[in-house]
Amino acid sequence: MTNYDKIFNGPNLKAARIRTKEKVNIVHDAYELPLGMADFGKGKTYYLKTYGCQANERDSETIAGILETMGYQEIDDIDHADLIVLNTCAIRENAEDKVFGKIGYVKNLKKFNPNLILAICGCMAQEESVVNKILEKYQHVDLVFGTHNINHLPKLLQQANQEKDVTVEVFSTEGDVQEDLPAKRADKYKAWVNIMYGCNKFCTYCIVPYTRGKERSRLKEDIIKEVAELVDQGYQEVTLLGQNVNSYGNDLELGYDFGDLIKEVAKTNIPRIRFTTSHPYDFTFAMVDAINSADNIMPYIHLPVQSGNSEILKLMGRKYDREQYLELFNYIKKTMPNAAITTDIIVGFPNETDEQFEDTMSIYDYCEYDLAYTFVYSPRNGTPAAKMADNVDLQVKSDRLRRLNDMVNEKAMKANKKFEGRIVEVLVDGPSKKSDKVMSGYTRENKLVNFAAPSDLTGKIVSVKITEAKTWTLNGELVG
Ligand code: SAH
Ligand code: SF4
Ligand code: F3S
Repeated sequence: MTNYDKIFNGPNLKAARIRTKEKVNIVHDAYELPLGMADFGKGKTYYLKTYGCQANERDSETIAGILETMGYQEIDDIDHADLIVLNTCAIRENAEDKVFGKIGYVKNLKKFNPNLILAICGCMAQEESVVNKILEKYQHVDLVFGTHNINHLPKLLQQANQEKDVTVEVFSTEGDVQEDLPAKRADKYKAWVNIMYGCNKFCTYCIVPYTRGKERSRLKEDIIKEVAELVDQGYQEVTLLGQNVNSYGNDLELGYDFGDLIKEVAKTNIPRIRFTTSHPYDFTFAMVDAINSADNIMPYIHLPVQSGNSEILKLMGRKYDREQYLELFNYIKKTMPNAAITTDIIVGFPNETDEQFEDTMSIYDYCEYDLAYTFVYSPRNGTPAAKMADNVDLQVKSDRLRRLNDMVNEKAMKANKKFEGRIVEVLVDGPSKKSDKVMSGYTRENKLVNFAAPSDLTGKIVSVKITEAKTWTLNGELVG
């Protein structure tokens, strides 16, 4: 019997692939602490580290909220915490390597504090291979829980505290949508708002549909209520979150889509609305018009292309080709000429030829993106692409990445140069990384600006004149 056979509650990638037509329940106000757990964390501290995307950032806010209902207090010093929670990401191998490095580090801490609890959650916890590896090689882990059962955290901590063996509870299939869970938001002015969970796209390289389950939209009433409360609390910006926001509402079958939703969110008068991520396949022209219809919807669209070559796009299962992508891109540029557009690109998909890669270079050259997140393809266990033979040398892949990144930098600089001399609106985040006297914040187009200003402007929207463009940031001076 392998260790894996011993876990009853572990993940299963095959089961995670299944998409049922069953309607998902939306559960309100169901969260309660198990008996005796309200003081469990009293006088104790937790350290919470988040890897990966905004979905994880938002989940961490829920985890923090739950822990604080148990009396725990957050600290940012891992060495002195009573509970360490690593909320992990499985998107690429190097993301996973970082987490295993951290898990190794915690082993030493346990020598000094035998009562220390180490919990692993997030997308890696949804992978069979990872849970297996933890059970075999990292037995100092106390608790593994997944992305679908964060609301069980108090009960699981209770169990992990009582049992010697690692406690594992990971559901391969999504459960109900849980509303009204506690949350400790990371920021006072900018908030993440989930509009949907999961992903049904199954791009052939991607692990997310397995780790996050099927697409489940929140009810528009719940979303609007949340945004309205944020407005009352003084929030200046919300970012609507989904792996593929453009398919919002498909599962609810109410004839109400992302375009309808964003227009309604705009009516709450939250000063700034952002959204991510957009998938070109579900992005209708009517949605572009909706984004363009209200001044508090920011002119910034992250529109991952992944590749500029139609054959590779087909192998990736992206469901659009180069021409269809460009049609959408051109419509956005035509109707929103001042919008910033960014993208994601994977180079070195299995068997990508030089010619196919040149198509990615040429689409980039044409689109002149404001910025791009570029990655070398990383095979993910259990995905269809991981089974494809691959004859491309790693060196060739990294050369392609370097060439692409040179173009990314060149176009980023070109896009930023257009801002020189302009007066822009900036939502002030707080002191910049370099100095207390320099504030930083983002423009409507999501450009990071540094400018000298007093720190009491944090959370305000101010006018800044751009004096100098750099590749990644803009420098400016406060004008009002
Ligand atoms: N839902 C979003 C993306 C989520 S993952 C979307 O569809 O756009 C963020 C990015 O990681 C992806 O856009 C892709 O560029 C990259 N990515 C995903 N899986 C990858 C893999 N196996 N190897 C390398 N990059 C990957
Ligand atoms: Fe992954 Fe594709 Fe879903 Fe994005 S749309 S999360 S890349 S499967
Ligand atoms: Fe990573 Fe999971 Fe997000 S794999 S990118 S944390 S959905």
